[in-house]
Amino acid sequence: MDNSMEILGLYPTWYQPALGSGWVLGIIAVVHVLASHTSVGAALVSTWLATVAVRRNRPELLEYVRRYGVFLLVFSYVLGSITGPGIWFSATVASPRGLSALIHSYVWWWATEWVFFFIEVIGIYLLVYLAGKVDGRSYLKIAWIFGLASWATMLIIVGILSFMMWPGQERWFTEGGTLNGFFGLYTFAQILSRTCFMLMAAALAGGLIAAYLRDGAFRLEMTRKLAWVGILGAVLGAVFFQWGLTTLPESAQLLMKTRLPGSFVPAMWAILAAIVVYFAALLLRPGALNVPLAGGMMVGLLIFGIWPEERARESMRKPYVAGQFVYSNQIIARDVPALGVKSELPALEARGMLALHPFIPQHLRRIGEGNELEAGHALAIVYCSNCHGLGTTGTRPFGEMFAGNRDAADIERFIKGALVTGNMVNMPRIPLRDDEAHALAQFIASLPLWHSITR
Ligand code: HEC
Repeated sequence: MDNSMEILGLYPTWYQPALGSGWVLGIIAVVHVLASHTSVGAALVSTWLATVAVRRNRPELLEYVRRYGVFLLVFSYVLGSITGPGIWFSATVASPRGLSALIHSYVWWWATEWVFFFIEVIGIYLLVYLAGKVDGRSYLKIAWIFGLASWATMLIIVGILSFMMWPGQERWFTEGGTLNGFFGLYTFAQILSRTCFMLMAAALAGGLIAAYLRDGAFRLEMTRKLAWVGILGAVLGAVFFQWGLTTLPESAQLLMKTRLPGSFVPAMWAILAAIVVYFAALLLRPGALNVPLAGGMMVGLLIFGIWPEERARESMRKPYVAGQFVYSNQIIARDVPALGVKSELPALEARGMLALHPFIPQHLRRIGEGNELEAGHALAIVYCSNCHGLGTTGTRPFGEMFAGNRDAADIERFIKGALVTGNMVNMPRIPLRDDEAHALAQFIASLPLWHSITR
């Protein structure tokens, strides 16, 4: 072992007892996904509508684009710009090394994304405030720059997020290269399916504005237009989503089969089917559209569509949080020669987490008679809490693990047999030393979780 490695470069663990840090991040992210997907889709739809409005000289269509723009400014851009930094803040504390892995590889791409976002924000203001006030050609230029800039933000983010799931090309680990990490088949499948689902979300949100239109005939026309966009988005999105599933690496395929509830894929199809039925019904009876209906569909999409989808995506990359080399509990688990990064598992195996983590209190560095439970608690927070609630709530809570077994010796056997050896598909290998495994088992057995379970 490398003796210079006295202490690992780990950060303090953010422990959120009720929900778990992952869920706090997840809740913020899901709202962000709704806002951002709606706004990118709406930018594309608005560009199209603005083009038709100018070409066919239809001021009422331009007025629709303006109102839709106001709605986006208030809804998507405000919610999106609150939750966007929210993701950065929560990810910084929940997963500092995961974020660092992304930033180290993609800082300039992110800077580029921010430039596009900046253009997008200026674009939406211009689109709203210049509607009907500048000549058609200029307005179209603004609309197209806005639409393309908006889509470009998505393009870059999807590439970075795909890298977060798994680097696009295996050779990225040895050669590096941002493009090697950015582009894999999965990236393309994501770009296509997300673009389509964004159009679908934009059609749902567009219904909210259409429902307010006074002019009956125009309102029916808009409702039908949006319904077609929605159906097209949902159906094509489903096709590309299905293709995306086939581009997943083997580990993720296995995970989908073994760990996602069997109801996940059928539930996703059911949601899409419900949305297609909704739009088809609007095609037949466009007069039925109203604000509660359109609003309800948006909320439904958030709760039944985006939340389970994003959660599944989260699970699929387990045990890693970024790039298939940083575990969710922040430990670096494989050598990445391209970054000059080395696996920390050998050092942890030899010396133990308590000795190597910089933020372990001095009196817990060595396990002895008096500090076993406290040391076990520290280990649970550092090693497990990023993926497991230590109580009965939040993410995969310990209260539901261990098959209700509260026998310390059994728990220790499980820890040594499955975790230390890394025999679990989607759980990291956790290289506890014997004394650490013993302390952790004592702590878990002492948790006041077991009252509801009789054995
Ligand atoms: C990278 C995330 C991650 C970390 C870190 C992690 N686990 Fe897990 N653990 C999982 C996942 C995922 C499952 C699968 C359970 C599921 O899908 O609901 C799991 C399952 C379990 C189970 C149930 C096993 C079974 O087959 O029923 C136990 C017990 C468990 N973990 C204990 C621990 C302990 C103890 C630690 C810390 C030393 C820990 N885990 C750290 C992700 C993690």
